[in-house]
Amino acid sequence: MNGNAAPAKIVVQNIAKTFTQKKHGLKITAIKDLTFTVKEGEYLVIVGKTGAGKSVFFDCLLGLKEVSSGSLLIDGQPVKQFLKRSYGRITRIYQEDRLLPWRTATENAKLGLEILRVPEQEQRARAEHWLRKLGLRGFEHSYANELSGGMRQRVNIARAFATSPEILLMDEAFGGLDEVTAQRLRRDFIKLAHEEQITFLMVTHSIEEAIELGNRILIFGAPAHLIGEVRIPPEVAQNPKLARQYHDEILSILEAKGGIEVGMEE
Ligand SMILES: Nc1ncnc2c1ncn2[C@@H]1O[C@H](COP(=O)(O)OP(=O)(O)O)[C@@H](O)[C@H]1O
Ligand SMILES: [Mg+2]
Repeated sequence: MNGNAAPAKIVVQNIAKTFTQKKHGLKITAIKDLTFTVKEGEYLVIVGKTGAGKSVFFDCLLGLKEVSSGSLLIDGQPVKQFLKRSYGRITRIYQEDRLLPWRTATENAKLGLEILRVPEQEQRARAEHWLRKLGLRGFEHSYANELSGGMRQRVNIARAFATSPEILLMDEAFGGLDEVTAQRLRRDFIKLAHEEQITFLMVTHSIEEAIELGNRILIFGAPAHLIGEVRIPPEVAQNPKLARQYHDEILSILEAKGGIEVGMEE
């Protein structure tokens, strides 16, 4: 399919999200005025400082929080309506892997399918298929608490892919791993995500990670609003000097417009 002709999967139109603190009535704005569109099958990375409202935005997409104003559409429908019809079609992977330690890798990987009431035999087959794709052949029967951090996150990703989501949200998913482990997992993950043709949104506070993973990067200021958009051409992966230029460009946008940072008085 021609990328430009792909229909909009997610439409974010002037959304805002505020919280009112119960105790003091203090208003906290997590999303200020956010507008952008994600096409079906697109692969998008969002970068922004800690506290920029990235996780709150994902909560809104997952129907866990409601936007205060504006409209948030998936397949042209308000999130709630989409979820009613398409339960389980959108899923998020967090930094913490959320595995059940008393379950094996396979039993953890099929957890999402249990919730979706897929027949038991198919649950197992799909879970094992995805564990193997993620390089965990031979570890199917290991308990979660016997696995390393990187392997645990692989099980977590297998669990998400096994449910065949239409939209996959990654929330700082590689943030808890050492750099070598994270890089290997990122590379494996990109390959799988491309093969699967899912609509894929990833948030990170790491500019390096955004450049490595992204072809389209949205830069969020705090509270969440769009302060920049950068496209990363494929040759950047092979060209550290070019990558550095993109890094500096994104960094300068974040420094200039990224939001207020608390600091010591000079
Ligand atoms: N349930 C809540 N009640 C009040 N404030 C919240 C709530 N959830 C998040 N926030 C605030 O929203 C802002 C954005 O948070 P978050 O989306 O977690 O940032 P990040 O970009 O680091 O993921 C923060 O100031 C946070 O304190
Ligand atoms: Mg977050």
